[in-house]
Amino acid sequence: MSIKITENVTWVGKTDWELRKFHGDEYTTPKGSSYNSYLIKDKKNVLIDTVWKPYTKEFIDNLKKEINLNDIDYIIVNHAESDHSGALPELLKEIPNTPIYCTSNGVKLLKGHYHENWNFVEVKTGDKLNIGEREIIFIEAKMLHWPDTMFSYLTEDNILFSNDGFGQHYCSEFMYNDLVDQAELYTEALKYYANILTPFNKLIINKINEISALNLPIKIICPSHGIIWRDNPLQIVNKYLEWANDYQENQVTIIYDTMWNSTRRMAESIALGIKQSNKDIIVKLFNCARSDNTNLVGEVFKSKAIIIGSSTINKGILSSIAAILEHIKGQCFKKKKAVAFGSYGWSGESVNIITEELKKSGFEILEEGIKLIWVPDQEGLKKCIEFGSKIGQKLI
Ligand code: FEO
Repeated sequence: MSIKITENVTWVGKTDWELRKFHGDEYTTPKGSSYNSYLIKDKKNVLIDTVWKPYTKEFIDNLKKEINLNDIDYIIVNHAESDHSGALPELLKEIPNTPIYCTSNGVKLLKGHYHENWNFVEVKTGDKLNIGEREIIFIEAKMLHWPDTMFSYLTEDNILFSNDGFGQHYCSEFMYNDLVDQAELYTEALKYYANILTPFNKLIINKINEISALNLPIKIICPSHGIIWRDNPLQIVNKYLEWANDYQENQVTIIYDTMWNSTRRMAESIALGIKQSNKDIIVKLFNCARSDNTNLVGEVFKSKAIIIGSSTINKGILSSIAAILEHIKGQCFKKKKAVAFGSYGWSGESVNIITEELKKSGFEILEEGIKLIWVPDQEGLKKCIEFGSKIGQKLI
């Protein structure tokens, strides 16, 4: 399948309806994803990025329907990660000397991945490649999200090929933003930002400002995953500016795991207390052992505060809580608040362990955490409601 985007630009990627895990098991993709590759035809013909290795044959067979491979003059690798470069080894067996345009880090990463000495051409921000009626302008985007990442801009068609930036792990038969369900699209775009781009907030703001200063008209944004932004494409750029500015909604998220329901009952009483003192705040509860960590990171991203609870086990915390704390730490969230809670039988270390982890992850601790021994009685649950009420007041 190919999709004509403009007279001279064709999408030649792969929609992967089956994908359910990405980055190993780190990122869940319930709506699949796509690996977007683009073919530009002018006096010189250019291929931008490829697809993940398992789809190499389909990709090359499909590409051959669009162009004689020997007529591809240049390949641009905006990003060397395997989901975009995986088909290069087989493609380059067919057209071995084709110049590959990428950043200097791109050369290192491609060599690190494939151990081949291909015909690399290093480019920097502002370098241009004339392809006939059009030029391609390169814009380095280091650490958005890998050291090699760059964007490519096509004049005349005014298309920004932004690679992972502005993407979503979202599969649709309709490849354009104006043709898909807006709630689904933004849910996936936010989750993608929260899980992949949050650590680079400052770089994102700087990069968007840098690109704005170039005054390049942007008619279409073609990312490397998900749908293409052709209807008011700057809407996603503006959304990124909002998200990059330490985004939060009026939400508090309670994440817990529980052995025999004591910590769950504490969580529910804390939620009750929050609502008693702060009626406007959205309170969400998740048993993280039964939840999806990719979604949970999205919920933390939207929250002004998080409340994390675990029973104590073997002087430690439950493994599901350890896992979500590791996910949260990796995102380097800023300006968010947190507090810990949990039940215990004899030693009761969980609250201190969680609190220390949250501090290390940059959260402001709102209050000393609350812990209750054995199964909470009415007095214990009342303490949790009062605790929640205090937290709710602090979040007004
Ligand atoms: Fe979609 Fe960073 O690869």
